[in-house]
Amino acid sequence: MNQAEPALEKMAAPERAAGSHVVELRNLSLRFGDKKVLDAVSLSVDPQERLMIIGLSGAGKTTILRLIVGILSPTEGSVFFKQQDISRLTRHGLEQMRTRIGMVYQDAALLSSITVRENLALPLQELTEKTPGEIDKIVDEKLELVEMAGDGGLMPFELSGGMRKRVGLARALVMEPELILFDEPTAGLDPVVSSVIDQLIIGLTERSKVTSIIVTHLMDSAFRLATRMAMLHEGKIIEEGTPARMKQSKNPVLVQFLSGSAEGPIFKRSKYHMLSPAD
Ligand SMILES: Nc1ncnc2c1ncn2[C@@H]1O[C@H](COP(=O)(O)OP(=O)(O)OP(=O)(O)O)[C@@H](O)[C@H]1O
Ligand SMILES: [Mg+2]
Repeated sequence: MNQAEPALEKMAAPERAAGSHVVELRNLSLRFGDKKVLDAVSLSVDPQERLMIIGLSGAGKTTILRLIVGILSPTEGSVFFKQQDISRLTRHGLEQMRTRIGMVYQDAALLSSITVRENLALPLQELTEKTPGEIDKIVDEKLELVEMAGDGGLMPFELSGGMRKRVGLARALVMEPELILFDEPTAGLDPVVSSVIDQLIIGLTERSKVTSIIVTHLMDSAFRLATRMAMLHEGKIIEEGTPARMKQSKNPVLVQFLSGSAEGPIFKRSKYHMLSPAD
């Protein structure tokens, strides 16, 4: 009996590891016409990680998030959400999957003609059987979590940039998702508000034990938030690892990106040379 145990463990271990990913991108490629945006990207995300995808503007970060929720389909390769190949899901299956994923859009994507409260209640009204009383309770709870209790009656145009981000965050939380995708959660905010939002994200994700994928090109935020990072460049993940490991990397592209320097390999080959001050 005792002798059999190690053998069993050996057999079970690789399977357990492969099966534990919340998201797995397998050889994912995507073309828009002639342009290859993603070139055989493989990346996996474990439970409760905050995986940060970093890269230049236009690198394909938002595109990766859209592939994960199935808004876009890959040219090649697959996206797995909890071991399910999402390309094999029926339309209903895909809708079900999306109820388990919260998305925080860069501009919060609130409906402008209804209040903050109504924006938060909408997914619950449309996708669940909850009563108005239950919905009210959840909305209050999420507003409180993002420190906006009492602001539910405001219209989206009455919100500052930081408040919009908070509301976007609260709306992503109402369905109690297992995975949250953040697209530039602090872009356009001042450094102090950015830090406050980052702390909020860390607190919320740790408390609710949710897994998250965050994309940003802001390095201060990236290093505050990430438990692991992956750098996307010219369609490929050129480096991944813990924030400490990324900082020590000798990869010249990553070194230039992290230092924000104009000197280095990045602009030499990229179409962005046309944005240089000389032009
Ligand atoms: N629907 C689309 N049709 C054609 N091209 C697209 C489409 N969506 C994105 N692209 C192109 O794919 C590339 C990656 O875009 P994406 O929005 O993913 O970049 P990003 O890394 O999120 O950039 P940013 O940091 O500026 O938000 C860009 O060159 C963009 O023009
Ligand atoms: Mg983007």
